[in-house]
Amino acid sequence: DWTMGAFKEQAIRQIRDQVGDGKVICGLSGGVDSSVAAVLIHEAIGEQLTCVFVDHGLLRQGEAEEVVRLFGDHYNIPLIHKDASDLFLGELAGQTDPEAKRKTIGKLFIDVFQEEANKIEGAQFLAQGTLYPDVIESVSFTGGPSVTIKSHHNVGGLPERMNLKLVEPLRELFKDEVRELGRELGLPESLVGRHPFPGPGLAIRIPGSDITREKLDILRKADAVYLEEIRNAGLYDAIWQAFAVLLPVRTVGVMGDYRTYDYACALRAVTSTDGMTADYYHFDHEFLSRVSTRIINEVRGINRVTYDITSKPPGTIEWE
Ligand code: XMP
Repeated sequence: DWTMGAFKEQAIRQIRDQVGDGKVICGLSGGVDSSVAAVLIHEAIGEQLTCVFVDHGLLRQGEAEEVVRLFGDHYNIPLIHKDASDLFLGELAGQTDPEAKRKTIGKLFIDVFQEEANKIEGAQFLAQGTLYPDVIESVSFTGGPSVTIKSHHNVGGLPERMNLKLVEPLRELFKDEVRELGRELGLPESLVGRHPFPGPGLAIRIPGSDITREKLDILRKADAVYLEEIRNAGLYDAIWQAFAVLLPVRTVGVMGDYRTYDYACALRAVTSTDGMTADYYHFDHEFLSRVSTRIINEVRGINRVTYDITSKPPGTIEWE
């Protein structure tokens, strides 16, 4: 008789066995996986765990503050918060190729993470919230020979470089099971039920053009309006992932008596059970009109909104 409570107890025993009285570093992203891993490990070994949060400046509205509030203040887990947005945005300037952006972000992430982790004396272990689908999808893509569709962002290479052993307590779990485990650990529903968010963040939601602070601000606002409307409509939990994408095209519009020439944005929402396949979410048209009107009225820089009706396959969930 297998329950999540039993899994938790077993995982805690395994972590204690593996770690002994060693020190563990865990990277926090603000997402469900790394949060659940951190709280589980904290429950197992307490203050032997230090979390490192590298803020790349590519998070959604309010997210960085939330991480610090929850882990630093609420859980009182030792937390290093590094704002590295200048470094990341500087290196990303001029880059538009999806895989090049991922590589840049992945490399910088490892550099910054390593620098911060080096401040924790005597650490021997690195914890990661790797899930079962991460393990398989980064190796090959089902439906073809082993072709990498998108290189996933993790701290690959770091354990060897820093001589750290990996602690990956979620390796056998699917997303819905990680959420169940999070609830079992008493994490707030707002975090446990949170939609997945990619490691490279908003950088892969500004396809085809230069990533600037200005565009990131525009995208954050549109995304926040969209998510607020989804929550207000009671649809958040029925959707696997929803987000806005800032398109690299300006279109002509009319606002009052004025001509506008601003960016177009695309809205994406999908249902899925594991992220490997997905269907687009069938919003009703009133909902879409409301979101479109609000974004165009409230977000300076966007004058056109479209809805993406592509499923996966043949599309992927993200645009890049
Ligand atoms: P795709 O776009 O491949 O996305 O259908 C499947 C799931 O993976 C997330 N995703 C990423 N996550 N680094 C990540 O950590 C990445 O580079 C990356 N690319 C996509 C995506 O948000 C979805 O949940």
